[in-house]
Amino acid sequence: MSVKFAVIPAAGLGTRFLPATKAIPKELIPLVDKPLIQYVVEEAVAAGIETIVLVTHASKSALENHFDSQYELEAELEARGKQALLEVARSTLPAGVKIVSVRQGKALGLGHAVACAAPIVQDNPFVVLLPDVICYAQGDNATAQLVKDYEMYGQSVISLLPVPMTEVHKYGIAGVTEQQAITTLVEKPAAEVAPSNLSVLGRYLFNASIFAELAKTQRGVGGEIQLTDAMHAILAKETMRGVAFDGEVHDCGDKLGYLNATLTFAARHASLGADFKTLLAQHAQA
Ligand code: UTP
Repeated sequence: MSVKFAVIPAAGLGTRFLPATKAIPKELIPLVDKPLIQYVVEEAVAAGIETIVLVTHASKSALENHFDSQYELEAELEARGKQALLEVARSTLPAGVKIVSVRQGKALGLGHAVACAAPIVQDNPFVVLLPDVICYAQGDNATAQLVKDYEMYGQSVISLLPVPMTEVHKYGIAGVTEQQAITTLVEKPAAEVAPSNLSVLGRYLFNASIFAELAKTQRGVGGEIQLTDAMHAILAKETMRGVAFDGEVHDCGDKLGYLNATLTFAARHASLGADFKTLLAQHAQA
């Protein structure tokens, strides 16, 4: 079965990034010249996704607007003969892709946000991409890697990123067999008891059976419905696989992670990169 649905949970409060996120959704903060969510949508589309379910909140309607057409802007650019900019304005939603948005009335947790997409996704397998986690790879992107794995094994599968043992206490860590089956998931373990150094990075592919588990999941840590708790329940019944991601992962929901991503992506930018590196060198000397 091919994977055509993606869920992007974007209804959270973004408290780690206040005050920037007081009136602006975290997912619309630009990384160099594109909002974070644009990178994630492009990753999903490059992996063959055709329908993207955005889980948003009443205070975040700018997110839906970003993927809609903006008539006044487009008419003005057309009248001024600014064809290249017109293309940029129109290309936020890649051709052949549908974005459907659903509301999560209250930020009751990531698991609850994913469950809000069930009426659209129904019985189909789907990927979940956390929009504040920005990945970069030379080869297959993280989502494409999951889709390929699913096409081969037909089992839920999540992306894992090796981290130094000294940092496992900051992440969700998975225990994995040689055959890549996940045996356990532990939230922020101390290094001595961590099952591995493989962190859960924010890209998941689930069979629709996760929805039934989410519906049964009680509020857990922080009073929120946790995706990890539903994944635990799945582990007792089905094989869930883990694949190591070979690339960069940036937590842009964290201020320092965002700054690091900005430097990295700006230095690599096709038209700005060279000048940006000159600027950086000047700052380093100052
Ligand atoms: P985070 O915990 O990183 O985002 O959740 P947050 O809650 O917005 O941010 P902080 O921690 O307060 O700074 C990962 C993703 O899940 C979404 C968030 O929007 C984010 O993209 N999310 C989280 C929801 O959609 N609903 C929720 O109830 C919680």
